[in-house]
Amino acid sequence: MPRASLDKRPAEVAQMFDAVADRYDRMNAVMTLGQERRWRRAVAATLSLRPGMRVLDLAAGTGASSLPFAAAGAMAVSCDFSPGMLAVGRRTHPHLRFVAGDALRLPFADDCFDATTISFGLRNVADVGRALAELARVTRPGGRLAILETSQPPARALRAMNRVYTDRVMPLIARLFSSDPSSYGYLAESAGQWLDQQALADTLRAAGWTGVGWRDLLFGAVAIHTALRPTAGGARTAG
Ligand SMILES: C[S@@+](CC[C@H](N)C(=O)[O-])C[C@H]1O[C@@H](n2cnc3c(N)ncnc32)[C@H](O)[C@@H]1O
Repeated sequence: MPRASLDKRPAEVAQMFDAVADRYDRMNAVMTLGQERRWRRAVAATLSLRPGMRVLDLAAGTGASSLPFAAAGAMAVSCDFSPGMLAVGRRTHPHLRFVAGDALRLPFADDCFDATTISFGLRNVADVGRALAELARVTRPGGRLAILETSQPPARALRAMNRVYTDRVMPLIARLFSSDPSSYGYLAESAGQWLDQQALADTLRAAGWTGVGWRDLLFGAVAIHTALRPTAGGARTAG
């Protein structure tokens, strides 16, 4: 079974999510200690959504991350490359618009979304810089990006505790509750190896985003990064 050593080969990442799709939402609620709905609402709040705004939720999986956008009246597009996750999403949330697509080659025209977002997906893509550049391409100038992702608590003691959680507790929960524990082994490993807040902010700037900032959740174990697609006139600050 694929693990972090798979180098995030896209076909294997997609297969891994196909394998966990049926129980993904339930496992996610357990793994995030019941916090995920609150975090997802916080992402929607950072995007200052208004009815009719066009929002891309990339790596949307079963669509749980898209629900607050649709609830705010936005025209949300839920894009993912795992057929299994898309199938569960279409069955569970028939009111959402699902589109099959790869983060590294988005099937959308330039500048076509008012806001773009990716929740717990960026650390799974094979080329983070390219995915961020693709997100910038499809976001209109002045449009906003929000990334919800695991991160690293700044306090050393909490960072150590977080490491115990990702290395020991997550795999244990997976063994107890998941149909495919080894896939969650990969997800736990990838969380442990992922960028900290500053490193992701630097990567965003390198991909052409401006006004980069972040907000820590759960003492920094999770963070929401925000950024703006630059306008021709220059940089602004994401709120
Ligand atoms: C951990 S799930 C997150 C799903 C959802 N955003 C959420 O918050 O519950 C990660 C998702 O990223 C998708 N994914 C990973 N790499 C991708 C890529 N290159 N293009 C599109 N989707 C991708 C996977 O198929 C999976 O559904």
